[in-house]
Order: sequence, then structure tokens, then C-alpha cells
Amino acid sequence: MKLKRTPSDLKFWIYPPVVDERQLPMKLSKTAHPISQVMTHLPVLYNEIIHAMQPHQGGLYVDGTVGSGGHAWGILQASSPDGQLLGLDVDPQALKLACEKLAEFGERAHIVRASYNTLLEQLVVLKWQQVDGILLDLGLSSMQLDTQARGFSFQTEAPLDMRFDPDGKTSAADFVNHLDEVELADILFRYGEERRSRQVARAIVNARPITSTMHLAKVVAKVTSGGKSGIHPATRTFQALRIAVNGELEALEDVLPETVEALRPGGRLAIIAFHSLEDRIVKQFVRRESRDCICPPDQPDCTCDHKATLREVTRKPMRPQEDEVRNNPRSRSARLRVAERIEGTI
Ligand SMILES: C[S@@+](CC[C@H](N)C(=O)[O-])C[C@H]1O[C@@H](n2cnc3c(N)ncnc32)[C@H](O)[C@@H]1O
Repeated sequence: MKLKRTPSDLKFWIYPPVVDERQLPMKLSKTAHPISQVMTHLPVLYNEIIHAMQPHQGGLYVDGTVGSGGHAWGILQASSPDGQLLGLDVDPQALKLACEKLAEFGERAHIVRASYNTLLEQLVVLKWQQVDGILLDLGLSSMQLDTQARGFSFQTEAPLDMRFDPDGKTSAADFVNHLDEVELADILFRYGEERRSRQVARAIVNARPITSTMHLAKVVAKVTSGGKSGIHPATRTFQALRIAVNGELEALEDVLPETVEALRPGGRLAIIAFHSLEDRIVKQFVRRESRDCICPPDQPDCTCDHKATLREVTRKPMRPQEDEVRNNPRSRSARLRVAERIEGTI
């Protein structure tokens, strides 16, 4: 296995042993290290992903969000003896786990620290023209959520960070303490669908400087409740900040046309989204790419020259079965959409 662009600080970390994560209850892999709060990430919709991606021997696959390598392991296993997989992630901690997990596949696994929206560049490096399958399992992993110091959770005290890439320029603290009230309210409304976005933004601005996760959660809880859904009042604010800090929706919008270019006819695109904002972007893209004409509906003659490039495999998103949600409650909001590349030009 080749680890490319290995971050120099990886060697200082201690990680849980290599385990088949699907066999483990969520809390089993605690260690006594600064990342001791790490819980193993259970790959969501695992069987559905393997079925959707149709891995076969000799196939080339991309896991754009390789995380700790759970789905990637399944794809490599199912494409034995010579299928290959490029696994991308921006989080060096996740990449280290992926390297350990995928070590048994040797040179068949290519693990690279890069954003998935550099997909086409990464394929050039590997001299892969087109691939047989691309997976994006969006959002954050259990490992990231449960590592206190990363600042993703409002349930434990930590600095307000929330960067997937620890070298990323802007942290959640920068957003919370430096944006003006209107910009902040806009982020909370757009990315968190927070109906009381203006009140929350005003409370944040009045409480500055906000230095920690629980400090922020308390400020937010004073002006909003979780609503009828019964979620914690800070859930939407934390989601919004995480999406903004990591430019998640922009990265997704950027990569979608690249996935079409990268897939060979018959190749599969599988995307797991965890909230409606991501899912809507994926749905609208796939619907549009499944049509031969994308002219406005009221235009009598077609002038767009567009040819469908995708076939929708899942008209409605697939959701986890009850037993998966029981075993892994964090899977409950997952929605999987699958599309297949057909001939056509984007
Ligand atoms: C839900 S986890 C993936 C878990 C993985 N499927 C597994 O089986 O372990 C999502 C991962 O995507 C990574 N990620 C988020 N944004 C990314 C981006 N723009 N490019 C690459 N990886 C990204 C996160 O760091 C995280 O490790």
C-alpha cells in the first residue's frame, strides 16, 4: 500500500488496533491517549454500498471520504484479487486508521491526503483515465465527533475547532468571534436551517469572546429550543458552523461534475448524505444529469444540446434498516443515492 503525502506528524499518534469495525460495539476501541475519546466508526449502509458499487476483479474505485476505511475495505475485498482503490480524506487521523485497516491489500490501496474535489487531479497522478465506482460518505465520522479536542460536539468541553483538516485556515472559533451578526445569522439559517438564526447570532455576538463548545451551546440554548424534534438546541448551530468551516456544500457541488467525468460508462456513483441540504444537491444534480434536455420547461424548442450522462439507480434514497439504526443510532439520518454513468456529454 502506498501512503502519499504523509503528514509528518502522523508518527506521534497512537491508534486503536486494526479491527473489523463492523464486528464491534461502538465504544470498544477507547485508548488512553489524547485521542482517547475515539470511538470506532461503523460504516453506514455497508451492505447497500457494496451492492451498489458492484465491485469486480480488476476494477478501479475511488472512496472520496475514506475515513477509517470501513467501506473501502469492503470494496477492496469484493474486487479481489486485483481491484484497486484510491482513498481520499483531508483528516490525517482518519488516514492513519485507513492505512492500518487497508494494509492487508498492499499496493491495491492508494491512500492520499486530499480533498475529494481534487478527484480528477488525483486520477491523473495514478494514470487512471476512468474508474468503475466512486463513493462519497459525506459529513463527519464517529471518530471525529467523539474526539473531544476536535470540538465537533456540544456535549463535551473543547476549543471551538470543527476542522476536518487540522491545517485548514479557519476554525469555528474564528467564525463565531469574528463574523458580523448578519453573516453569522445567514450561515445559521442556510446551513443549519435554524429558524431563530437572527436571535442566535445576536446572542453569540453579545457573548463574545466564545472560547469553547459548551460555552457556545449554553449561549445558544438561552435563545432557542430544539423545537418539536426534541434535538438539543445547539444541534443546528453546530451543524451550520461545521458545514461553513469545512466548505462542505461547496466541495460537494464542485465534485459532482468531476465524478461524471471520472466514471466510465456503467460505472457507479454512490453518495451517502446525512441531512437534507446535501441530499438536495445530490438529487438535483442526478436528476439534471439524467435528462437529455435541460432547457427551461416553458421553452418550446430545445437549444441546450445536453445529453443525459447518468441513469438514476435509486429514484428514492435508500435508508438504513431498523436493525442498523438499532445497532448504530448515528446511521438514522443516512440517505443513499446511486447513479450509473451512461454515454453522453456533460
Ligand atoms: C462519514 S466519514 C467516512 C467514513 C468511511 N466511509 C468509513 O467507512 O470509515 C466522512 C469522512 O470524510 C472526510 N471528509 C470530509 N470532507 C472531505 C473532503 N472535502 N475531502 C475528503 N474527505 C473529506 C472526513 O474527514 C471524514 O473522515
